Amino acid sequence: MALVRVALDARSYDILIEQGALDRAGEILRGYARKGRLVVVTDAHVARAQLPRLEASLRAANVAVEPIILPPGEQTKSWRHLEELLDALLALEIERGDHIIALGGGVIGDLVGFAASILKRGCHFIQVPTTLLAQVDSSVGGKTAINAKAGKNLIGAFYQPALVLIDPSTLDSLPPRETRAGYAEVVKYGLIDDPAFFDWCEANAGALLAGDPDARTKAIEKSVQAKAAIVADDERETSGRRALLNLGHTFGHALEADTGFSDTLLHGEGVAAGMALAFRYSARLGLCSAEDAARVTAHLKAVGLPHDLATAHVKADGPALVGHMLHDKKMAAGTLPFLLARGIGQTFLSKDVVLDDVAAFLDEERAQTGA
Ligand code: NAD
Ligand code: GLY
Repeated sequence: MALVRVALDARSYDILIEQGALDRAGEILRGYARKGRLVVVTDAHVARAQLPRLEASLRAANVAVEPIILPPGEQTKSWRHLEELLDALLALEIERGDHIIALGGGVIGDLVGFAASILKRGCHFIQVPTTLLAQVDSSVGGKTAINAKAGKNLIGAFYQPALVLIDPSTLDSLPPRETRAGYAEVVKYGLIDDPAFFDWCEANAGALLAGDPDARTKAIEKSVQAKAAIVADDERETSGRRALLNLGHTFGHALEADTGFSDTLLHGEGVAAGMALAFRYSARLGLCSAEDAARVTAHLKAVGLPHDLATAHVKADGPALVGHMLHDKKMAAGTLPFLLARGIGQTFLSKDVVLDDVAAFLDEERAQTGA
């Protein structure tokens, strides 16, 4: 079993990664059960595909399971489902010392984490992520949230889990498109500050996406090591270091907004196209070589991820896309911090980006790709 520690003083916790860990969950999680019981919150897809494994393992360890099954999808990160979840947890008499298990992707992890942060002024939660995106990104670092009418993730809290338990084999039941979308967040760590890991991604993406357990485990371990170090350094995104994790997200958010935050473009797919755009924009500004930008684009294209406006199914013009960026929650005092790159593994935060110039760049991209 690989173990990565998130070092945050009293809020420190472990991330455990092991192929087949779900079948040993009883042994691993037994110590967190109060009165021999654990509440597991999940969604209907994961309940079908993975909950039976977790339940069997917990029951074999004499831990009773109280499942709470929510509808799948982004709309579950809502006031309505938060209220339903809190009422269900209260009905089960959850106490402040209890640990709630979040079994699922980023939707379940973000919702359960937020519920745990406010239930009885805070109880514990354990992340058992079942999508690649959640295993390499959202289950680690304590960002929890629901969506508001005004935008995604606008209501939430920084609230760290007590433990993250990752079983790469849960990805066996994940639709391949979801795995590919999560892979964008893996590539992101190479592009931020680890060129050798980007080389590894180029060499191993095929095996990883085909389900090779060693490639998956290595990618997850490298990703959470990178994320744990960043979170330990800048838990609340105040110094600018954690903001590096938003590479591709400002462009990506605009693309997701244009496609209505729908299945047309999954979050990770928006991030993939957003990273390609961030590198090409960096090259246009003369910050990064055209070769590096082309290499990033070529890798995303090779694995079947969107890498430009056309493959992201975006119809809007440059000014309309920049209009979406103005609603970004990172907007501060009229400027939008932007992640740009001086090369692969050399991402930095720029506060000098001129949004009219970004709009002109996006219009050039539209003209070139026929979006
Ligand atoms: P998701 O949770 O909606 O999962 C994607 C789909 O896969 C769902 O239909 C789900 O039911 C299904 N699924 C999950 N695991 C499965 C499995 N093993 N087998 C079969 N089906 C499975 O989406 P996601 O991509 O994991 O997460 C997206 C969410 O994460 C967004 O709300 C985003 O805002 C959030 N996010 C949060 C952070 C953070 O730091 N907190 C970071 C990135 C993204
Ligand atoms: N996913 C971005 C962050 O955790 O900061």
